[in-house]
Amino acid sequence: MPLNTRTIPGGSTRLVGLIGDGIRLSYSFHLHNTVFAELGMDWVYLPIHVNARPQEELEAALRGLRALGFVGANVTMPFKSTVLEHLDLLQGDALPIGAVNALRIEPDGRFLGINTDAPGFTADMKHHGVVCRDRPAIVLGAGGAARAVTYALLQAGCSDLAISNRTSERAQELVSHLGRLFPGARIRSTTWMDGLPSCVKPASIIVNCTSVGMAGTPTSHQLPWPADLGFQQGHVVVDLVYRPELTPFLARAQADGVALAMGGRGMLYRQAALSFAWWTGRSSPMAQMRRAMDSITPSLEGEHALEREHTSLTAPDTSSQPPGGMLHDSSDGFSPVQQESEQRGATQLPAGPRAGLPALRKGIDDLDRRILQLLAGRMGLVSAIGRIKSTQGLDVHDPRREDAVRERWAQIARSQRLPRDLAMKLLDLLLGASRSLQLNTKEGPASRDSAAGVGS
Ligand SMILES: NC(=O)c1ccc[n+]([C@@H]2O[C@H](COP(=O)([O-])OP(=O)(O)OC[C@H]3O[C@@H](n4cnc5c(N)ncnc54)[C@H](OP(=O)(O)O)[C@@H]3O)[C@@H](O)[C@H]2O)c1
Repeated sequence: MPLNTRTIPGGSTRLVGLIGDGIRLSYSFHLHNTVFAELGMDWVYLPIHVNARPQEELEAALRGLRALGFVGANVTMPFKSTVLEHLDLLQGDALPIGAVNALRIEPDGRFLGINTDAPGFTADMKHHGVVCRDRPAIVLGAGGAARAVTYALLQAGCSDLAISNRTSERAQELVSHLGRLFPGARIRSTTWMDGLPSCVKPASIIVNCTSVGMAGTPTSHQLPWPADLGFQQGHVVVDLVYRPELTPFLARAQADGVALAMGGRGMLYRQAALSFAWWTGRSSPMAQMRRAMDSITPSLEGEHALEREHTSLTAPDTSSQPPGGMLHDSSDGFSPVQQESEQRGATQLPAGPRAGLPALRKGIDDLDRRILQLLAGRMGLVSAIGRIKSTQGLDVHDPRREDAVRERWAQIARSQRLPRDLAMKLLDLLLGASRSLQLNTKEGPASRDSAAGVGS
């Protein structure tokens, strides 16, 4: 690809970046730098790694940014709330939210803070046609992102909000804070994992605002949700984690047939476009940010996602239809945030007839790994059900349940345009393996030989 000389930093290049502890996997560098290059702007977006401990590091980093002439920066984990005490002025809803994800350094040296996560989330929910008014919601997490999301949900009219966080004191503190802001709303905290079943309602909006499930972290294969707690068809499930695009949490929600399972990428590029506009004084480049986001294809999600060759392949435009059509209501609980002109752009794949093979094969390998991870999750649930059946004296073989599963697989295969035969063969294998596992659970390892034949 010919180098765009305007993308090479020079003496008058304007500097922005991302402050955080653990920013290696962020897509913000790709988004902002791609859009700067596309718009021919002499700006660059840099990584600014700051250690969470000792606390003085953040203040030192902020002083450094000012000394080095940075225009501003995004702020991410774990500084979104702690950065507030170092700022001179908060704009927008940053003060009531109690978290900032973008800061700007004024010519007189003052630090301004703003929260673009909340309007980014709101705009994405609105784009997907999700109605919040009078709906119950569950938010997992109580960090900076959870502050923005809970605020946005309550502003949009959520009637009943439950917050669950690993560190319960943080959830309780957020509940008290929101209670003062929204005195009419029902807001409560619940214990991490154990308290969740009692909060689930048929129409719940469930949002993961923890980092659990993020690729490249120790929790990448985990759920922020009890493994034996299913989702319901009326649920809207949102995962703010955007890497991978299909997180274990979303995969589980999709498998349970929820009304809408929504990833974090829409919110990510929307908050990025809003930050961009705030720093540069230009209008929000929503369409460009979206194209930059779409150019991160599933096959390029690995560690070296940004080291690649490019050519373009136009993808069909399906973006204008809200996926959760039944949820759409023009009088939704979200107020318009941003006029967007969004055209789905080109999806980037490696160039040449053969040059793309390694990346595509890597994509297959990644998907195979995920399929096996999901399979492991499914067998875990099968085993849990087996234990219940065993203690209750229930039969392992349940023909009515199997018929219902077959029917659902046929529906999903149709909607995914998968050959029905292939889907059914796979299901037969899974059902056989599941029965064997449950028979083993019921009768103990001694019966393994006889059990192995049950599903064949
Ligand atoms: N899509 C987007 O645009 C967007 C925007 C913002 C954030 N995010 C994502 O949202 C996530 C949270 O970001 P943040 O800024 O809120 O970070 P944060 O302020 O550091 O909060 C992290 C949250 O995750 C929880 N957590 C971390 N590790 C956990 C574990 N092993 N088990 C259970 N809970 C765990 C924390 O619980 P404790 O309080 O117990 O530590 C806390 O609630 C990140 O993955 C971030 O990438 C996405």
